[in-house]
Amino acid sequence: GLPKQVTIWEAGPRDGLQNEPGTVPTAVKVELIERLVDAGVSHLETTSFVSPKWVPQMADNAQVMAQIRRRPGIHYQVLVPNMKGFEAAMAAGAEEIGIFTAASESFCRRNTNCSIAESLERLRPVCEAALARGVKVRAFVSCIAGCPFEGEIAPAKVAEVTAALAAMGAYEVALGDTIGVGTPGKVRAAVEACAAQVPLEKIAVHCHDTYGQALANILAALEVGVASIDSSVGGLGGCPYAPGATGNVATDDVVYMLDGLGVETGIDLEKLVQTSWFISDALGRPPASNVARAMKAK
Ligand code: HMG
Ligand code: MG
Repeated sequence: GLPKQVTIWEAGPRDGLQNEPGTVPTAVKVELIERLVDAGVSHLETTSFVSPKWVPQMADNAQVMAQIRRRPGIHYQVLVPNMKGFEAAMAAGAEEIGIFTAASESFCRRNTNCSIAESLERLRPVCEAALARGVKVRAFVSCIAGCPFEGEIAPAKVAEVTAALAAMGAYEVALGDTIGVGTPGKVRAAVEACAAQVPLEKIAVHCHDTYGQALANILAALEVGVASIDSSVGGLGGCPYAPGATGNVATDDVVYMLDGLGVETGIDLEKLVQTSWFISDALGRPPASNVARAMKAK
């Protein structure tokens, strides 16, 4: 059967906005985060402490962290690629970090300018420093169902990288279908390969919806027993180093599906959809979420 309850990791403020062509004002990012938490989101990717030359959209990371109202019990995770990012995140008061690498060598190089092995070596001291000060570490593996440069990716490679991140101390590893090419059989195979190496409770899925497969892929993962799902309000997002990648699956669509299945998320769909329209209006286009558009039309 399906899990009774799942954790939704809202990626909109980070994955969603990192790829915007224009500058999104810090005040809009902060209001987005506050509205998401008001709607019942308890786990969110708040911003990233990566190089502003690589991702200018996240250059206001410290301001975002300073301006949000940090409410108790909410996981405000920030993405960091190296020690420099970790130190900046700590200075900004982060209590939880996200680290990232890939199951594809070519993508790893494009995204972080190093090999997979080098990225793991770069992340090791980050994990050690985080754990030493009680900072929680979540991890991401990109290209788990295909790579824009290499095509097919073996589930065994995904499992190897996932196991390495868990061994370093990540309490959960999100399997990223970065370019949304996965279909349910592929995502299931990647999850199962990982579950043979690390407990299923440590596995999450992070599906982009480029090919419209994300909800089906998530359902396949839920059926295997995954209970942690990444998504982004209004379907915002994409990775600037993954050509053609569109947004994450819309949180609105995931919550609608889970409500229908009787799986608890703690999120109020009505308020979430209002948030989806808030950020879409700020960006000057309708949400990518079918549910958000349908509910507004009602
Ligand atoms: P590099 O150029 O090899 O790094 O980039 P470096 O260590 O040689 O440093 C170069 C310059 O960047 C130096 O500045 C550093 O100080 C600075 P300079 O001396 O030239 O003035 N620098 C930094 N500045 C601020 N914060 C930092 C930082 N680090 C170095 N943390 C690096 C290597 C990893 C830094 C770079 O490649 C980078 O920032 N990459 C991040 C790319 C990114 O953010 N991608 C999107 C997020 S991942 C994603 O979306 C996928 C995910 O959603 C899952 C999925 O969908 O699959 C998570
Ligand atoms: Mg992503």
